Amino acid sequence: MSTLWHGRFEEGPSDELLAFTVSLGFDRRLAADDLAGSRAHVRGLARAGILSDEEAEVVLAALDRVEEELRTGVFQFEPTDEDIHTAIERRVTALAGEAGAKLHTGRSRNDQVATDLRLWARRELTGVARRVLALQRTLLERAREAGPAYLPGYTHLQRAQPVLLAHHLLAHGWALARDVDRLLDCRRRLDVSPLGAGALAGSSLPLDPDATAADLGFAARFENSLDAVSDRDFVAEALFALSLLAVHLSRMGEEVILWSTDEFGFVRLDDAYATGSSMLPQKKNPDIAELARGKAGRVIGDLTGILATMKGLPLSYNRDLQEDKEPLFDAVEQTSLGLAAMTGLYATMTFDVERMQQAADSPYAAATDLAELLVERGKPFREAHALVGGLVRDSLERHVPLAELVEAHPELGAEAAELLAPGRSVTRRTTPGGAGPDAVAVQLERFARRLEADAERIGPEGDGR
Ligand code: ARG
Repeated sequence: MSTLWHGRFEEGPSDELLAFTVSLGFDRRLAADDLAGSRAHVRGLARAGILSDEEAEVVLAALDRVEEELRTGVFQFEPTDEDIHTAIERRVTALAGEAGAKLHTGRSRNDQVATDLRLWARRELTGVARRVLALQRTLLERAREAGPAYLPGYTHLQRAQPVLLAHHLLAHGWALARDVDRLLDCRRRLDVSPLGAGALAGSSLPLDPDATAADLGFAARFENSLDAVSDRDFVAEALFALSLLAVHLSRMGEEVILWSTDEFGFVRLDDAYATGSSMLPQKKNPDIAELARGKAGRVIGDLTGILATMKGLPLSYNRDLQEDKEPLFDAVEQTSLGLAAMTGLYATMTFDVERMQQAADSPYAAATDLAELLVERGKPFREAHALVGGLVRDSLERHVPLAELVEAHPELGAEAAELLAPGRSVTRRTTPGGAGPDAVAVQLERFARRLEADAERIGPEGDGR
């Protein structure tokens, strides 16, 4: 059995070692990036005169062939292929003979795997950002179509003041805008090539890490080879950005769960985005929303896992770092699936506007408007607050409509009583960023512009990032 290190070893690896240390099961996802990294490395070796032009041609052709074999599924993996890098190099060597055996010159799997994972993360985080944008666009569309509809705004899950439905939907939209920002920020910081760092110290061969970095489209090369092979900050950062995104999806999910209960009745879920019960024929369940909530726990676990893996590692590469991949792959996959499902859920659910507005139309919800009217008439807010609070208590205790008490009160009167009319209160939230129609019209514009700018920052599909 032949390994990458067979020279120094008399015996092959034990079954137990292979079973415990092999990573091929998950790192085959890096195949495309490993091929890209190898191509750049081969071109670098040719520029350095380590490979002749003919040899480089032969190795590049072998890499193309491997790509084809992987794509069509005819690539034969072997039991000693401990990871995707080993498998590809083995096959390239078999195909390209002498020249193939030069592929790994001046390179270690330590700089190779770090390069591959950065290429992978750069592209996949871009993909996640694009999926966040799709959800934001759906929120924008639903907010536009909601028009003047309003619902109770809550604090402490107690009805507080009416807010436009559009305002409520965009609150989630802005949180997601920060997620996009974080993903792109993380992408910018990870855009550094480790290729050329070798196992840990660089090389005696005339390699040019700047050139291979440029070849791979990286913004820069590493500054320090020890750091280059052992830095997984970008994995931890990506996992934090994904965790917070997952937390936002979880909060949105929790809301859909509440809103779709009979108790709230604010939304009805589309059949295609809800599930039934195997026993209870009347049930319609919000499983997407529940899993958006549930999976956030798992993604947070991915983040805490990588932080714990990293915290005790001495410089530079340690095999522990192989544990960087599964959490990252998992978090990207779960948030991507969650984003697509939540986008469909939000695009298709029906808002019961009548029910929302009824819930918001309690005259007590306009209590602040009464106090603010008194303020406009010169009363200090604390006194106004106490006066209105007294009327609310009175109304509740004596079962007299609040409007009646307001109308009869010498400091309030008919004009004040009108503020209690259904739908009136929300129109009075006029300050920038506020919940009323004028402010929300401005907000909708600003949000739409933000999405356009973010689409631009994310970049067009298929530009390799
Ligand atoms: N599969 C390994 C990883 O993911 C590749 C690097 C192995 N390097 C080594 N020195 N054993 O980290």
